[in-house]
Amino acid sequence: MQKQNEMDRERMTLVRQPKTDTVKEFDFTPRDFERVRALIHRRAGIALADSKQEMVYSRLARRLRATGIRSFQSYLDQLESRPEDGEWEAFTNALTTNLTSFFRESHHFPILADHVRGRKEQMTIWCCASSTGEEPYSIAMTLCEAFGTMTPPAHVIATDIDTNVLNTASNGIYGIDRLEKMPVEQAKRFFLKGKGAQEGLVRVRPELRQLVTFKQLNLLSDDWPVSGPFDAIFCRNVMIYFDKPTQSRILARFAPLMKPDALLFAGHSENFLYVSDAFRLRGKTVYQLDPQPGKGRGLTRGGLKNL
Ligand SMILES: C[S@@+](CC[C@H](N)C(=O)[O-])C[C@H]1O[C@@H](n2cnc3c(N)ncnc32)[C@H](O)[C@@H]1O
Repeated sequence: MQKQNEMDRERMTLVRQPKTDTVKEFDFTPRDFERVRALIHRRAGIALADSKQEMVYSRLARRLRATGIRSFQSYLDQLESRPEDGEWEAFTNALTTNLTSFFRESHHFPILADHVRGRKEQMTIWCCASSTGEEPYSIAMTLCEAFGTMTPPAHVIATDIDTNVLNTASNGIYGIDRLEKMPVEQAKRFFLKGKGAQEGLVRVRPELRQLVTFKQLNLLSDDWPVSGPFDAIFCRNVMIYFDKPTQSRILARFAPLMKPDALLFAGHSENFLYVSDAFRLRGKTVYQLDPQPGKGRGLTRGGLKNL
């Protein structure tokens, strides 16, 4: 009878255990999560939501294994005590989210083509969160098609904080499935198909690759190794990771880098009007400098809107 009661109790506890409460390789306390949150926010501006605890654990557990450090506490102590430690790069790379695709949010590209077509002067377009390269190469393809040549009078500067994705981008090699939605003619024009050991892969043609320069750039950093004036800035699906004051500061720094008629492209869920008075909406998630910043929009000094 006692055994039966024990078994019932055990079954009850098993039933009540939340799914995520499995035995973990490393202890990961709420305090560890708070420390990670503060460090990545300070370093990269990324604001991690409470719901990201499991994601943070699994991504950083790999770093603990790679470094041979046996606890989150020691790992984080080491990072905090050595601001120049090489592990900072791997820590940051581990916590970025790099989802992207060729011609993502496709309505932006005809707008870019109309904006540049027919211009004679040399143009520069900045793609400031370029991830694995699909976005800057889509911009470069658009430039080639707008001018009907593989040598348009334009160049793309593609930057990201994450050095892993920049390597992938710079190599320009992708699984052929990444081109699934691209018309066959366009794919043939801009990519070479791998054979033999490279079967299933495609490589960006060298002429297209030449149009793009990749560099590391942290949008939070005081030094940006880019200089305008830009004809367009693509800042898509990165501001969503930042809090409003950070977004506002970054947008305030974009404005002086842009030509007066330059375009600023945002991600589908990003609205820059709420955080900056420097821009006006020109179309769906496309902005231009506002010649009369903030006029009639109830914005305060410094570009932050009263909520
Ligand atoms: C979701 S991806 C968006 C990629 C692309 N812009 C697009 O829309 O498809 C976000 C990118 O922002 C980068 N990122 C995050 N924080 C950053 C920062 N502080 N400075 C520069 N890039 C950052 C990440 O490394 C990641 O590659």
